Amino acid sequence: MILGIESSCDDSSVALMDAKTYELVLYKKISQESRHSEFGGVVPELAARLHTAALPNLALDLKPYFEDIKAIAVTNEPGLSVSLIAGVSMAKALSISLNIPLIAINHLIGHIYSLFLDQKIKLPLGILLVSGGHTMVLNIDSHGKITLLASTTDDSYGESFDKVAKMMNLGYPGGAVIESFAKGCVDDMYKFTVPLKGNKKRLEYSFSGLKNQVRLAIENLGKNLSEDEISKVAFSFQKAATEHIIDKLKTVFDIYKFENFGVVGGASANQTLRGELEKISTKYNTNLLFAPLKFCSDNAAMIARAGVDKYEKKEFIDYKNLRISPRSDLNGVII
Ligand code: KG4
Ligand code: ZN
Repeated sequence: MILGIESSCDDSSVALMDAKTYELVLYKKISQESRHSEFGGVVPELAARLHTAALPNLALDLKPYFEDIKAIAVTNEPGLSVSLIAGVSMAKALSISLNIPLIAINHLIGHIYSLFLDQKIKLPLGILLVSGGHTMVLNIDSHGKITLLASTTDDSYGESFDKVAKMMNLGYPGGAVIESFAKGCVDDMYKFTVPLKGNKKRLEYSFSGLKNQVRLAIENLGKNLSEDEISKVAFSFQKAATEHIIDKLKTVFDIYKFENFGVVGGASANQTLRGELEKISTKYNTNLLFAPLKFCSDNAAMIARAGVDKYEKKEFIDYKNLRISPRSDLNGVII
């Protein structure tokens, strides 16, 4: 079995995967969302403290399986430094005490593996990654080499939902709550401008201008927004943000012909986004892949699954060389 450990942001999670069958033998996740909600976003110091409390408890659940673990795959980049340190420290401690090798996993590559939890990876592959920290489009060739095709110059898609929710005092994270307020509303009252719309030369995302449009609309409404007002803002915002994703993807699809195109990251749970993606994938004759809803957001199952492929290639790392990094560049990386 391969042990996966994930602690890059506000979820502490462990998973055990059978390296031959991909069976998920154990999966646990302790989410900190409710603890960060009152602050409208993740508070790093609080996240670090909560990981330090949660991870040893999760390690106790692993105890009956210690003898069967062949390697430990742990997220070491990108993410919140203080959160990454918690998981990596536990991975090192287990590696030394159980005398088993370590495998370093890039969190974003972990998300890609959420599409293939119980099967072999399909290559070549196009990817849209939409999470709280990232918005990017990737091409992965048949050898697994990643090319970055587009990314955001400021906020990410998921983060813009979080910020809009914060502006309306709806807590953290904002994705699901904005989506539920938008549901049922059909009136695009605000008609927010879609960023960089139709500009085929600029293959990039930007959500900060849209966020400011939303901020102005909310300020004009004054204090104590009614549910109807929140729904209308949420609907118009979600519509423009999603149109932005699709508009740039069309330019990508005009250039690249993907047989398989995967959509990953916490925000890939958004049903409006999924609906619009279905439409363009039909138009461009692309097979769309999604992770199971439960594994769209951060989880250790995807880290264990990425670890299985690295275990087969014997890509181990000595504990002295295993470092964390808040950022990573996927361009040119081999999956
Ligand atoms: O992948 P993830 O769990 O963590 C990061 O790696 O960042 O993604 C979390 C992000 C948050 O910003 C959250 O608001 C967003 O995904 N999200 C959504 C939805 N569910 C989660 N965004 C839009 N619509 C959703 N239904
Ligand atoms: Zn993530």
